[in-house]
Amino acid sequence: MNGYVGTATSRVDGRAKVTGAAKYAGEFAADGLLHGFVVTATIPRGRITRLDASGALKVKGVVDVLTHAHRHPLADKDEAWKDEVAPEKGSPFRPLYDDSIKFNDQPIALVVAEDWETAKFAATLLDVAYQEEPFATDLEAERGSATEVQKPHEPRGDAAAALAGAAIRHEADYLVPTEHHNPMELYATTAVWEVDRLTVYDKTQGVQNVQKFLCSVFGKTPDEIRVISPYVGGAFGSGLRPQYQVVLATLAALQLKRSVRIVLTRHQMYGLGYRPETIEHVGLGARPDGTLDAVVHEAIAVTSRYEEFSRNDTGWAEQLYKSANSRYSHQLVRLDVATPCDMRAPGAASGVWALECAMDELANALKLDPVELRLKCYSDRDQSEDLPYTSKQLRACYRQAAAAFGWSNRNPAPRSMRDGKELVGWGMATGIWEALQMPVAARIVLTANGHAEVSSAASDIGTGTYTIVAQVAADALGLPMDNITVKLADSSLPQAPVEGGSWMAASSAHAVLAAAEDIRQELARLAVAMAGSPLAGTDPADVILSEGMIAVGSDKSRSVSIADAMRSGSLERIEKEKLNHFAEDKSHARNTHSAVFAEVKIDEELGVIRVTRVVNAVAAGRILNTKTGRSQVMGSVVWGIGMALHEEAVMDHRFGRIMNANIAEYHIPVNADIHDIDVIFVDEQDEHINKLGIKGLGEIGIVGVPAAIANAVYHATGRRVRRFPITLDKLL
Ligand code: MOS
Repeated sequence: MNGYVGTATSRVDGRAKVTGAAKYAGEFAADGLLHGFVVTATIPRGRITRLDASGALKVKGVVDVLTHAHRHPLADKDEAWKDEVAPEKGSPFRPLYDDSIKFNDQPIALVVAEDWETAKFAATLLDVAYQEEPFATDLEAERGSATEVQKPHEPRGDAAAALAGAAIRHEADYLVPTEHHNPMELYATTAVWEVDRLTVYDKTQGVQNVQKFLCSVFGKTPDEIRVISPYVGGAFGSGLRPQYQVVLATLAALQLKRSVRIVLTRHQMYGLGYRPETIEHVGLGARPDGTLDAVVHEAIAVTSRYEEFSRNDTGWAEQLYKSANSRYSHQLVRLDVATPCDMRAPGAASGVWALECAMDELANALKLDPVELRLKCYSDRDQSEDLPYTSKQLRACYRQAAAAFGWSNRNPAPRSMRDGKELVGWGMATGIWEALQMPVAARIVLTANGHAEVSSAASDIGTGTYTIVAQVAADALGLPMDNITVKLADSSLPQAPVEGGSWMAASSAHAVLAAAEDIRQELARLAVAMAGSPLAGTDPADVILSEGMIAVGSDKSRSVSIADAMRSGSLERIEKEKLNHFAEDKSHARNTHSAVFAEVKIDEELGVIRVTRVVNAVAAGRILNTKTGRSQVMGSVVWGIGMALHEEAVMDHRFGRIMNANIAEYHIPVNADIHDIDVIFVDEQDEHINKLGIKGLGEIGIVGVPAAIANAVYHATGRRVRRFPITLDKLL
């Protein structure tokens, strides 16, 4: 493949996005559209004893108020509420199901009115009373009730004994606070009602997942509910599970037989999934030369009372660093909160920050350069399964990032580097993520004028799926990209899973490749069989599609135009759909890797921290598009800066309620917080992973960034902060 693949191609949907032509879930219109405003609970646990809507119903323009006592029936069984990304054990939350309150800001009513302002105003007139029950929302206070749910890897050797006997030992707890998704686009659904079907425009990372979910919750068939989500204004985990607004909009549309739109408020976004608060305990034991003998990583994370949400925070060391003894565990504390959800690099973003900060502390104790320690412990095999990697260019990541950063000029002593009134700190960390791939189908319709429409139910959550699908199709069909139209994210299109886990680039590219191969075969057959064909007698397997022609090699005299070949077969169009499965292969470990180097400058008197430079060198196999790829990693780095320095949802445990549920008080990085970000794609040929050697980029860019910054802060100040975010008060 060469041509468009691998180049810095601009987004094919860029113009639609910047001109406002791209429509998002809350922007679709419908005749007689109603607007729903969600009313949420103000206690974390208990029962609703009174919910009087009579005041709201008197307001002109209010059509109905849906509550648990007054709503269209929902499925009873837990199974009906499971979707492909929520196989968590437990009983999934069902909005307006009954009178019980399971978390603060749980939806308890939906006010539906002719316009949004009326619905919002009427919502203030609801008269609600509760019977409160004792609750717990504080992880550190409830730490003792943690139960083990997951052993990410079997223990090897005797980690406790090896740690106790180690010449150099480092043990500490690292804390990740609750972090909330703050995508630009709020959760939104427009459910367009027709007599015999619903068209649901939803903010989601997986339209077919939402379709299946709604069908099972409302007892409908797939031809009765169609889900569409052409553009997504940021998601990265928040749009994986179908969220409650899509249930409520569907419920209201079916009950009222009208089209209904619900857009949650920014505050209400905090009543949904988040990165769980986690205590990460890491223990490392080493010999004086830096050889690791023991790795212990135990995570204690928050989940809700009603579901077990657990991701793999620990165990990453098993893949990165050689150690004869290791033990990992993942424990959960059940609290009266909403269930957490995936958030960019779930598990790794949290777990690797702890591991990589601990490695930095160990390097200091050993008086070793932190890069050197990592090279000393470098593992060419995944120790958990004792497997080689399909590819692992992590050494090159360290080397290239260090060179670009100028790491050799670092004075290792803390507080040794300055720039005027600012202390300068240089820190580094490793990143790792999985290279996953899933079955995806694509359909290609080629018309005799040499245009192709490529379609799949796959989403583009802003990552660039439209663009890479067009690039791969153009190359595979030998057509200019302008001749390719891509349609995505409609449940009526060919099969695709949710876009997540960094698997969509590899998965969708190979689906397109498979469908294009069927097109090639059909064109080859036609071209060879054509009367007087210059390709007569050619083995169709040798026929290629290149520069709009059906050809053999580069010999222009031996080629046939697509139009001629299709005319010879009396075809106006050729349509091929293919579901691509990747071969099952357990012979290799599959991961992406990165090395992150960060510079911070800290005002010595005020403690103000600026991240002035980040170099992130990523090895992720073949990069389909260096422009959209670079943008993904840059976005991830910004999020990593947020994780290290800004983000924290603060709960008032007296009320079990988040105090800063808005983006004025929940801090995320703004433009002024972002300085130089340098993304390096390390050359990594991968012959094992899949035909094109693609590994995926969605998550790897954030992993390692928070630790590199924390390590830089230590280097600048000599102050080790093990509790995110590193705000200035922690340095004074
Ligand atoms: Mo990503 S957290 O798998 O959307």
